[in-house]
Amino acid sequence: MRARSTVQAPANIAFIKYWGTTAPERALPANPSISMTLRECVSRCTVELRDGGEDEILLVDDEGPHVPPPAFSDRIQAHLDRLREWAGREVRFRVGTQNSFPAGAGLASSASGFAALTLAVLRVLDLDPGPAQRSALARRSGSGSAARSVFGGFVRWPVADAGPAIAPAAPIAGPDHWPLRDIIAVVETEPKAVSSLEGHQRAPGSPHYARRQTLLPERLEVVGTAIRERSLDRLGPVLEEEAVELHLIAMSSRPPIFYWRPATLAVLEAVRGLREDGVAAYFTMDAGANVHVVCEPAEAAAVVERLAALPGVRRVIRDGVGPGPIELDTHLI
Ligand code: PMV
Repeated sequence: MRARSTVQAPANIAFIKYWGTTAPERALPANPSISMTLRECVSRCTVELRDGGEDEILLVDDEGPHVPPPAFSDRIQAHLDRLREWAGREVRFRVGTQNSFPAGAGLASSASGFAALTLAVLRVLDLDPGPAQRSALARRSGSGSAARSVFGGFVRWPVADAGPAIAPAAPIAGPDHWPLRDIIAVVETEPKAVSSLEGHQRAPGSPHYARRQTLLPERLEVVGTAIRERSLDRLGPVLEEEAVELHLIAMSSRPPIFYWRPATLAVLEAVRGLREDGVAAYFTMDAGANVHVVCEPAEAAAVVERLAALPGVRRVIRDGVGPGPIELDTHLI
């Protein structure tokens, strides 16, 4: 048995969004989704076995390891309990977790964080249940999109079949298939006011929710083909439709959820301006104010320059498709 393990897992950006759940407590999605796993936005998690006592959860940042607020540690604690029950092992853990990017601001920090935690717990317990079960266990954290972050490249997460389905995601193309870039305009670093867990549950209250479900089969088809054929011309318009509709549904949920900030709109306008100038770049957003701009490598510098010049943009992250989780030799705690 290993005493300690550290795993780095990436965030992902959804091309087709998971928005709505049929079972919130198990994070079963109401619709299939497709995402690209990132390279730079990552979480690292060290898990150590303890001799006894209680679990200990630490957030590691510039000030070193410290006890996080209860809202943060409670979700980790609940997932440790789930993993312990699944493994059938009466062990205790010491956990240190760290993000390379702002947490809770719509940059999928829960996806990367829970993917890293799940994989590090499996490693420290010396368990390898295979890729589908790894994905399903990450999903059960409550952050469904963590199911996609255990893989690199381009990933599809189908709706679970009837019965006791484990509902895993699966890769559809590796990271070398298409070197897409994701230039992230960070306009907000504070955690969002309404969690995506809450957003999933409010979504069916929007009059636009049912309509989106009818449009999804064709969108999933187009995005799958666009990835296969490496066609940004086909992918881009669907990316933008999906992002706008996710927020349309959020804004018309009951009660409504407004994730956008004024600078969000400024970035969307800048992306349209880039296209008018002949730069093929398309925006998408998850449940937050920050904007992801997807482009080919040759256009990345022009996109960075345009976004960095906008007054409301605090930081630009140059990201792109990445290889998925890795185990590290250096430990956080
Ligand atoms: O995995 P959750 O519960 O944090 O929800 C993710 C929701 C979106 O990021 C908006 C869409 C997605 O598919 O990642």
